[in-house]
Amino acid sequence: MSRFQDKVVFITGGTSGLGFETAQLFIHEGAKVFITDLEEPPEDCEAAIKACIKHYGRLDILFHNAGLCQSPASVVDQDPALYQKIINTNLFGYFYLAKFAIPQMEKQGKGAIIATASMAGVFGDYGFGSYGSSKAGIINLTRTMALDHAGAGIRVNCVCPGLMLTPMVAPITETPMLLELLEKVIPMGRGAHPGEVAKVVAFLASDDASYITGQAIIADGGLTASSGQPNFLKVFAEMQVLDA
Ligand SMILES: NC(=O)c1ccc[n+]([C@@H]2O[C@H](COP(=O)([O-])OP(=O)(O)OC[C@H]3O[C@@H](n4cnc5c(N)ncnc54)[C@H](O)[C@@H]3O)[C@@H](O)[C@H]2O)c1
Repeated sequence: MSRFQDKVVFITGGTSGLGFETAQLFIHEGAKVFITDLEEPPEDCEAAIKACIKHYGRLDILFHNAGLCQSPASVVDQDPALYQKIINTNLFGYFYLAKFAIPQMEKQGKGAIIATASMAGVFGDYGFGSYGSSKAGIINLTRTMALDHAGAGIRVNCVCPGLMLTPMVAPITETPMLLELLEKVIPMGRGAHPGEVAKVVAFLASDDASYITGQAIIADGGLTASSGQPNFLKVFAEMQVLDA
């Protein structure tokens, strides 16, 4: 039995990277998927949710995945208009979509909401204040919405990917020196294929996660398991080689 047979799934940012992989997975498991992927102002979120409900007659799963990133810049150098745009797309869009999706899910007595946050929302990254604060906001909005709507049968969770090999990070992955730098600090030694994270999203959306709500699930190849200290196993092994 497919996990999402006849479920209606609404996905933002669904034509590329993680959104695309997740849409494929949902469709493969029987879902009807409604995708948006345009640089739309957040006000259009209401119209998009209404169009989905009108077309399919219901809404079971909301996956807010659309995201904008930034080039590294300190607050001093960051263009305020870009900061506003990132917050609008990443965080305000989540608020707005949920605002109009939740009443429908309440009517149905059940629903699952998932958002794409980031490890950059859990810890700080040099020069990524705009992106990081938008993703941190997603994590705490997730917790609050989970509390507010648990009684109505609605679960709300987010996924926090580390490096995923998608067009968003092409400036890094297409520059061998930068990719190597990043891979060196990831314990698993590689970025994720977006399909690996799509499986986490599908799990959170499914009844397999029926007792999970208000959580931020990190999928980062072990990166945030480290306190940031040097790898002393490696350092000591190299020192012994030098001593020998
Ligand atoms: N790639 C990574 O390393 C990485 C790491 C952590 C988190 N993320 C997050 O994963 C999510 C998916 O990104 P991706 O890596 O698949 O990148 P991607 O560039 O392949 O996909 C992002 C999609 O979002 C769409 N989008 C942007 N603004 C939109 C808007 N206002 N309305 C609708 N769609 C919009 C883009 O057109 C694009 O198709 C994003 O939220 C991103 O912040 C990515």
